[in-house]
Amino acid sequence: MAESTSTSTSGVAAKLLKIVVFGATGRTGKEVVKQALEKGHHVTAVVRTPEKVDIQHENLTVVQGDACDVESFASALEGKDAVLSSLGVYANVFNPTTFYTTTFNEIAQGMRKNKVTRLVTVTSWCTRPGPNNSWFVEWILKPFFLNGVIKNMAEMEEMLESSDPDLLNYTIVRPCGLTLGEKTGNYKVEEGQCNTGTTSRITCADVADFMLKTLESNEYDRKGFAIAGL
Ligand SMILES: NC(=O)c1ccc[n+]([C@@H]2O[C@H](COP(=O)([O-])OP(=O)(O)OC[C@H]3O[C@@H](n4cnc5c(N)ncnc54)[C@H](OP(=O)(O)O)[C@@H]3O)[C@@H](O)[C@H]2O)c1
Repeated sequence: MAESTSTSTSGVAAKLLKIVVFGATGRTGKEVVKQALEKGHHVTAVVRTPEKVDIQHENLTVVQGDACDVESFASALEGKDAVLSSLGVYANVFNPTTFYTTTFNEIAQGMRKNKVTRLVTVTSWCTRPGPNNSWFVEWILKPFFLNGVIKNMAEMEEMLESSDPDLLNYTIVRPCGLTLGEKTGNYKVEEGQCNTGTTSRITCADVADFMLKTLESNEYDRKGFAIAGL
């Protein structure tokens, strides 16, 4: 990890990192980039369309690349401390996706090649059965609407969990329904498939806030967390 530090508003010295962001033109990824720069990190955004990146900053590098093709972005991972991914794709139950496992394989290959071990990646509430998953999600939403995406997210999570701990230190971030809006900090994080005692909405800015927080301690290492607004 990089050696430099900054002092946050709480007065606690935080490590300044070199971060690669996938999904930086998306709703959550834009927030990850913005907040990471505000914290003083150096950010490399790997995007398909550089013109879509509307932030300019001396610590931001934009690299054109396709997350489905490691050759297009591998060099961007050189010397980096962590990869944050909020990649997403549209799919439905009639046309299910393999996007999450494909991009994970490509990103993991690039990380191994460059000896980068830290990965924070977004999936979703209830990717797999859990004690707090509602019957409505399991029996209605997933089979009729969500499985085209969520099944492949679950497959990616299984790949993360079975990965070699010496090569990969992951955190899975499982948000409920995403909304646009300010960072509130008013959210709950719980290890597992979904939250209890929360709303079923969270702003992308709060998800980004948590993603960056996971880099600040080791309590989130090799675990998956549900996140929702209060
Ligand atoms: N919507 C919800 O309520 C909800 C709830 C729970 C979880 N989630 C999940 O949370 C994640 C983040 O959601 P979001 O709404 O922030 O995502 P989003 O706005 O749809 O952004 C997706 C990002 O992925 C990028 N991308 C797609 N294919 C790519 C490729 N081949 N190479 C490089 N970049 C690629 C897109 O880039 P382009 O600009 O080039 O297209 C975009 O930056 C997604 O995985 C989503 O499924 C969503």
